[in-house]
Amino acid sequence: MNEEYFLGLIGNPVEHSKSPIIHSTISNEYNDGYNYQLYCIEKDDLGNFVKESFDLGMKGFNVTVPYKQDVMEYIVDIDERAKKIGAVNTLVRVSGGYKGYNSDAPGLARALKYDVVEIKDKSVVIVGAGGVSRAVLDVCINGGVKRIVILNRSKDKALALKDEISREYEYDHIEVYGYEDDYMKTIETDKWIAFQCTSVGMFPKVVFSPIENNDFYKYMEVGYDIIFNPLETLFMKKVKEAGGRAFNGLNMLIFQAVISYEHWSEHEVSDEVTKKVISVLADNV
Ligand code: ATR
Repeated sequence: MNEEYFLGLIGNPVEHSKSPIIHSTISNEYNDGYNYQLYCIEKDDLGNFVKESFDLGMKGFNVTVPYKQDVMEYIVDIDERAKKIGAVNTLVRVSGGYKGYNSDAPGLARALKYDVVEIKDKSVVIVGAGGVSRAVLDVCINGGVKRIVILNRSKDKALALKDEISREYEYDHIEVYGYEDDYMKTIETDKWIAFQCTSVGMFPKVVFSPIENNDFYKYMEVGYDIIFNPLETLFMKKVKEAGGRAFNGLNMLIFQAVISYEHWSEHEVSDEVTKKVISVLADNV
């Protein structure tokens, strides 16, 4: 076994992850020889796992729920953008340990480009205020959106996120609503790009959408769902029925993986190889 070719995903749970298919497809295309495994780790073992993996010579990792923040304690360096977002999903072997990056945000930016969704000067609604919402906020603020509404079940959590992000990015155009608030008063004044960043609507609970008010969808030009199972969520259906364009989270997943891969391999992943990954995954969801 030559550990310098070993990569993996750290999380809990990890068994349904698509990352091994994505990374083995890219590795095969380039003959890089990487071996990508899943590691389901208990919280108490996370620090030891990272240390022992480094001692063994392992090249790098992806990190997923629930450790994107916890893992920051066990690495030797953190990229500036990941620090700002407050979450690390990629570990790259450097001298003395691992350096943490966030490929979710640049992955989303590339997915938006691929899907021809222009966010500059647009108004954005982010449904949800968890980890994914943070990466979406980073992309929206860096992408020059006009204004952002965060709509979340628990308003307090969204307000805390707004405070943190406004400070961190020196950005002053975020409004927050809870589900009980009259958010439609604001929504009906504009056209919006909506990012659905909750787990509501994911298989097997496919008959749900976080926003039940059908009027909401009339004002959505684009609906971007982070969910990719099912490939079309109820949220996406409602956006389409109201005349908007809707996308699932598959391309975001693929592009974040591509960016992680580029960190490890130190070479670009071509559009042609990325398209191959997209077609392989389409047959494997
Ligand atoms: P992630 O890191 O994947 O974003 P998370 O941090 O657990 O996951 O965030 C999940 C988001 O989905 C939160 O905004 C959560 O709302 P609360 O802040 O009110 O908990 C939202 N969410 C989860 N289940 C939900 C449900 N059944 N209805 C509405 N929102 C839900």
